[in-house]
Amino acid sequence: MSQSQPDESAFDLEQITSTTFVKEVICHETIDSTNNFALELCRSNQVSGSLLILTEEQTAGRGRGENVWWSTEGSLAFSLVIDADEFRLPQELWPQASLTTGLAVCLALEQLLGEGHVALKWPNDVHLQGRKIGGILVEVGPRPSGKLVLGIGLNVNNSLAEAASELQARATSLFDFTGRDFMRTDVLTAILAQLEQQLSRLALRDPLLANDWQSRCALRGKTVEIDSGKKRVQGTCQGIDVDGALVVVTDEGPQRIFGGTVTHID
Ligand code: BTN
Repeated sequence: MSQSQPDESAFDLEQITSTTFVKEVICHETIDSTNNFALELCRSNQVSGSLLILTEEQTAGRGRGENVWWSTEGSLAFSLVIDADEFRLPQELWPQASLTTGLAVCLALEQLLGEGHVALKWPNDVHLQGRKIGGILVEVGPRPSGKLVLGIGLNVNNSLAEAASELQARATSLFDFTGRDFMRTDVLTAILAQLEQQLSRLALRDPLLANDWQSRCALRGKTVEIDSGKKRVQGTCQGIDVDGALVVVTDEGPQRIFGGTVTHID
């Protein structure tokens, strides 16, 4: 008897809503940025509960600062809007939502690939064997909406062979790493399940959450240079602390950096 294969080209919305905490999904064929769309819905007060915005293609995917997010057919690009109150996330925990989201992506990838390949590159990248496979862009909805927009881009079935040569050297995809395609709905539901668990650990201020950031910190032990906006910090990275700060031992002693861009790694 022949078994019908699910269609990889389309997301299985029924699987998402029946197996995860997300009960509302908006799926676009093409859109500028799922984060832009999510923020717009928050602005016009059209979101109640958790809402997932998915797209097949983004024409203006955004990363941190001025960065653009390269995503082509076969990748995953989505934004999850959550209500911070529903997730019991008071405002003082919001700065840690990005690392927690990154951890959720790492854990979902570890379920697929096993442990040891995936790392968190502070503050918002997910790496697979030293190359970027995913990026996180967490944005706060207009006040007083109390909404957080967790934007996630992940290279799944797209190949970096199609990307600019400059990107090919720095990035990878699940396809490039394993040589096979993945059901994107399965990858997505694994991430959503992990997000529910890891955000709840954040809400409970689980002291072991920081251990999980730390053990996956791609910069630990490396010589780094960080541009934190106001200053440049150079030194040896000790990892990520309980508040999500990167700890860098400089000539003047250890410094805790709460935000910035890693400009150099040795
Ligand atoms: C980064 O690398 O700096 C973060 C990239 C985040 C990309 C995702 S894709 C889905 C969501 N929509 C966006 O415009 N950006 C995020």
